[in-house]
Amino acid sequence: MPVISAPQDFNEDDLYVDLESFAGHPLFLKCEGFNFAGSIKLKAASEMVEAAERDGLLRPDSILIESSSGNLGVALSMIAASRGYRFLCVTDSRCNLSTRLLMEALGAEVHVVTEAGDGGFLGARIDHVRELCASDGRYVWLNQYMNPHNGMAHYRRTAPAIARQFPDLDVLFVGAGTTGTLMGCARYFREWHRPVRIVAVDSVGSVTFGDTPGRRMIPGLGTSVRPPLLDTSYVDEVVHVPEADTIRVCHRLARRGFLFGGSTGTVVSGATDWLAAHGDRDLTAVAIAPDLGERYLETIYQSNWVHDLYGEHVLAQRTAAAPSPAA
Ligand SMILES: Cc1ncc(COP(=O)(O)O)c(C=O)c1O
Repeated sequence: MPVISAPQDFNEDDLYVDLESFAGHPLFLKCEGFNFAGSIKLKAASEMVEAAERDGLLRPDSILIESSSGNLGVALSMIAASRGYRFLCVTDSRCNLSTRLLMEALGAEVHVVTEAGDGGFLGARIDHVRELCASDGRYVWLNQYMNPHNGMAHYRRTAPAIARQFPDLDVLFVGAGTTGTLMGCARYFREWHRPVRIVAVDSVGSVTFGDTPGRRMIPGLGTSVRPPLLDTSYVDEVVHVPEADTIRVCHRLARRGFLFGGSTGTVVSGATDWLAAHGDRDLTAVAIAPDLGERYLETIYQSNWVHDLYGEHVLAQRTAAAPSPAA
């Protein structure tokens, strides 16, 4: 029986959904949404805050500040509340309303950037963080985009948890945002006892792997500025997924009773297509699901939002039949 005294002390690291009947090939989905922050970013947040405390960067009057599309912001709001720091999150207008309210409920201050600059929304958020840091010495910016402890969290925790459960792992599908999860897992498996193919999954319109910038409305994956943590020599392949496919996969999973977040739809879509093109049935394949679906009720799971952005027919195309009731 786990008994905790700080919210960041609990994280379910050993839960997988068997997606073989969904993907048409064996595929296990590692669920990272079962902790008090509701996402994989809890691990990055804990690792970065602990390192900053060890290095003496955080003092009792420090104000943590971070640019986040939402999930890191929630995780930092929770840890800041638990450890007695103030926290200011700089996000943008694509951040889900419920995610923003969650941060505020945990005592964080939230600034929403509404104009994208030359570096897109991400560039505008980072400019705002820099201005605030220059205005007051109490701000401490952990900078998830450059902080090595972001990737280290996954090198130390996410990848070993997968390795423990799948000693015969052949291929790992990881979504790319800051690329902390991707790089941490890829570095761990590069040193492992057998080769693992690392497949990065990104959104169409993200510049991370050199794609042309384009509209992206689903937070979590993709960037408008190339992530400094990324070292492509660790990545074997990249799959780009259009957001319309992300939406379809999220809805298909929901019809099976699994309500996941947008980036999970992207990763599962990319993994399904990759396995259909390359997979032999004996491959051991794992994909990472960064969060759950409740934060996306007013967006991905709301038909007006979907129809306005992706067209009336987006959910009618390429939609496989729902499973028939079990005998
Ligand atoms: C829902 C979701 N998916 C994926 C990611 C990407 O993870 P990473 O920043 O480790 O690349 C994030 C990061 O914020 C996220 O919030």
